[in-house]
Amino acid sequence: MPEAAVLASLGCGNPTALAELEPGQVVLDLGSGGGIDVLLSARRVGPAGKAYGLDMTDEMLELARDNQRKAGVANVEFMKGEIESIPLPDNSVDVVISNCVINLSADKDRVLREAFRVLKPGGRFAVSDVVTRGEMPERIRHDILLWVGCIAGALDESDYAAKLARAGFTAISIEPTRVYRVEDAREFLTGKGIDVDALAPQVDGKFMSAFVRATKPGGRVQKPGDPTSRV
Ligand SMILES: C[S@@+](CC[C@H](N)C(=O)[O-])C[C@H]1O[C@@H](n2cnc3c(N)ncnc32)[C@H](O)[C@@H]1O
Repeated sequence: MPEAAVLASLGCGNPTALAELEPGQVVLDLGSGGGIDVLLSARRVGPAGKAYGLDMTDEMLELARDNQRKAGVANVEFMKGEIESIPLPDNSVDVVISNCVINLSADKDRVLREAFRVLKPGGRFAVSDVVTRGEMPERIRHDILLWVGCIAGALDESDYAAKLARAGFTAISIEPTRVYRVEDAREFLTGKGIDVDALAPQVDGKFMSAFVRATKPGGRVQKPGDPTSRV
């Protein structure tokens, strides 16, 4: 990967490693930033596949296209647009990935409905995001989310799952990949005048990066002896 793509990575996970991409698939990265996950996906799906990146920021699109040129990857297209209104046709994508972007959207229901719309039947949603677990005072939630950075609107894991189900997804799972401890944020929180030791019980284990998986129902009918077919 070009160094600039690696340095521009602002994600909170590694969706391409977890998404189980296969040669020939079409992948869409929501909020592609400097393009690292799109370029990694393009390699995984190979020349018969395609990787789209969608971002609303001209500077990020310019950086991503520059990184694509440096990486010499052809099966990639970076598109300008918003994840709330994806500029791709219905049923056109095998896997939707995203790395720490959906939490930024003010209309997550719309993003999830759009992801569902563009996925082919049987297509997969495979996203890294920050989620919270359980009740906590609003002030604490606000300060911790500021510390984790760039994740203004993290959802509680149960709300995320409910929204995915409302959008039509099935086989929903949310798997923590990194749990944030109050100790990790001691310096930041102390600087804000917060008593970190008093806070610990309300924070530990409640903020996490997670891998969020779901499936659009449908797809090829399972045939006996065909392990690759989907229901
Ligand atoms: C935290 S960065 C993550 C970038 C990239 N996924 C990564 O892992 O490095 C958020 C990116 O999402 C883009 N973004 C945020 N909200 C968006 C929206 N509603 N529609 C399209 N892009 C959005 C920003 O321009 C930025 O490039």
